[in-house]
Amino acid sequence: MNPAAGKSVNRGVAPVTYGQGERPPRGDYGRARADYTCEQDIGRYTAADHDTYRRLYARQLAQLPGLACDEFVAAVQQLGAPHRIPAFDAISERLVRATGWQIVGVPGLIPEEAFFSLLAARRFPVTDWIRRPEEFDYVVEPDVFHDLFGHVPLLFDPTFADYMQAYGAGGLKASRLEACELLARLYWYTVEFGLIATPQGLRAYGAGILSSAGELPHSVRSTAARRVAFDLQRLMRSLYRIDTFQSTYFVIDSFQQLFEATAPDFTPVYREVREAVARDGLIEPGAVRPGEREFSV
Ligand SMILES: [Fe+2]
Repeated sequence: MNPAAGKSVNRGVAPVTYGQGERPPRGDYGRARADYTCEQDIGRYTAADHDTYRRLYARQLAQLPGLACDEFVAAVQQLGAPHRIPAFDAISERLVRATGWQIVGVPGLIPEEAFFSLLAARRFPVTDWIRRPEEFDYVVEPDVFHDLFGHVPLLFDPTFADYMQAYGAGGLKASRLEACELLARLYWYTVEFGLIATPQGLRAYGAGILSSAGELPHSVRSTAARRVAFDLQRLMRSLYRIDTFQSTYFVIDSFQQLFEATAPDFTPVYREVREAVARDGLIEPGAVRPGEREFSV
């Protein structure tokens, strides 16, 4: 499906759609290079675009105390002025000095292999368009606010930054082992929807939570959700929903724990997970399993 039909010719790369939907993707993939990156077309943003970013940023910033992890709160100011969509290059300058990462523009969702290759090279892809005003509370695909505000601050944390690179390298390997589905659950339940236990209580570090006004308090405080201690194999068997708040979150003790738990070769892990799935099936969202360590709120 060509997103630019009737508008411009897609010269470079095939567009990527979200899920099974028929809706064409939002971004202009005709601008993308072979690796799916593109220049951030900063002159294209309208005053309304900047205003949407400003309002999203202000709403989330006000919610961070007591809900977001300290590392995120400390680093969010690295995004620069909160009143307009920042230049990716300016953030990259600070990020390279901090952890050796850069951010690069992309037209939207990109294929898994391209995504993993960028992460393995310490380059984080950021969608360069912003949601429409009527999508203020919810946008289906990740936009520049989700990608920047949600993901980029923790790339300033050295341990988390290393985890992200290792994830990319692991993803390239998972592609060869046909295990991307299992690895995608790790990304979902950590990078997007992870919680961390701190002496002050549970806090969010996942980008899907931190960029969502509703899910941030839900994930940390709602009694309707379950919070289970991080367990790699359990997590790889756990289905998730993309259209509503999560009903189960996984809790890490530290970024170091996350890095170390995911550092070994996953080849035997994938085998054991497949055996467990064949024996006992996948785990539904919100399922209660005997003997699990749960966190209360
Ligand atoms: Fe994301």
